[in-house]
This record gives sequence, C-alpha cells and structure tokens, in this order.
Amino acid sequence: MKTKIAVLVSGGGTNLQALIDAQGKTLLSGEIVLVVSNNPGAYALERAKKAGIETAVVTKKEWGSQAAFEAKLKEILTDHGIQLIILAGFMTILSAEFTSCYPRRILNIHPSLIPSFCGEGFYGLRVHQAALAYGVKVTGATVHFVNEIPDGGEIIAQKAVYIQPGDTPEILQRRVMEQAEWVLLPQAAEQVSAELCGAGV
Ligand code: GAR
Repeated sequence: MKTKIAVLVSGGGTNLQALIDAQGKTLLSGEIVLVVSNNPGAYALERAKKAGIETAVVTKKEWGSQAAFEAKLKEILTDHGIQLIILAGFMTILSAEFTSCYPRRILNIHPSLIPSFCGEGFYGLRVHQAALAYGVKVTGATVHFVNEIPDGGEIIAQKAVYIQPGDTPEILQRRVMEQAEWVLLPQAAEQVSAELCGAGV
C-alpha cells in the first residue's frame, strides 16, 4: 500500500510541483492524495487541480481561532486517511497540540541551512533577505520533521547553495529553489514515505 500524502501550501506551489513531477516519474512511492491551502488564492491549488489531485481550503479567518482551524485541518486529514503531511511553503505555525498528533509524520522545507535564519518570522523572501544582510557566503535548504518548535525538529536532509556577488533576495530565492529545494524535498519525501511503507504503516 502506498503512503497517503497530504501537501499543505499557501502560495505559488513550486515545491508542490516538484513533488507532483517526482510522482509522475514514479520517483515517489507514496501518493499525494490531497493538497490543502490556508490561502484560497494560492496558485498551488491550480497546480494540484491540473494534476488531478483533490484540494481543500481551510482558513483561520473562516474558523476563527488556531484551535478551530487545526481541528478542521485534522478532520480533513483523518477523513482522507493521510499518513504523511508535507509542508511545502505552508506559512502557518502549527501548535504543539497539532504536531504531537503526527510525530515524525510532518515534513517541512525551509529555505536556509538550519539553524541559521530560521524560526518564527523567518519565511519566504525574509529568509534570503536575512542571509544577504548577514553576509554569509553559503546558504541552502533544509528538510526536517516538524515538532512544537518552529523549524526545530530533527533534520532529514540539507543542501548548500553559494551566494553570488550582486544577489538580490529574489535571485537568491530562485537559486535556492532550483539547486536545493526542488531536489531535496522529493528525495526526503521518498525516504520517509518508503520508511513508512516498509514499516507497514
Ligand atoms: C519556499 O522557498 C519554501 O522553502 C518557503 O517558502 C517558499 C514557498 O514557495 N518556506 C518557508 O519559508 C517556510 N518557513 P513555493 O510555494 O513556490 O513552494
């Protein structure tokens, strides 16, 4: 039985696309059965629909509180028999109540080499702005398990990317995506979903 995967998104969904492409090339033994967005306007939802994957939108605005939002999210994930959750540009911090329900079952991709430029407030372009402002010469991406500490769970994989003279946050973001994120996330997803399959989960 294939591991049932849900991908949680908020924006453009290029990392979701990398996962869909890996699945298309049968490089992913799990199956992406659901894409959930907390942003109704996320282009990632279009990518999912084009790939024939079921989508759902759950927003905090609609549910009022973090607890109610997470309860709805959990209900949808349970209804779909989800075994592995992948945060691919999901811009909401999940509570300890939520993450403790899925130990070693939630992965996140972060666009830096953790423990640099991570934790609360470090997301999207801000991460690359911070790396350039600090003046580091190497950055990269990290895939890690998600626990109650933002970007603090066990690291699964990392890939380094060199900063070039004249880089802007946008140029650096693109290079980190191309050279690290889109390679690393499908590989890590496959590693974890194959482990779950092997464990008979
Ligand atoms: C990616 O760079 C991802 O690593 C980052 O947001 C971008 C989403 O792009 N995630 C975080 O910063 C999480 N802290 P995408 O929607 O095109 O995949």
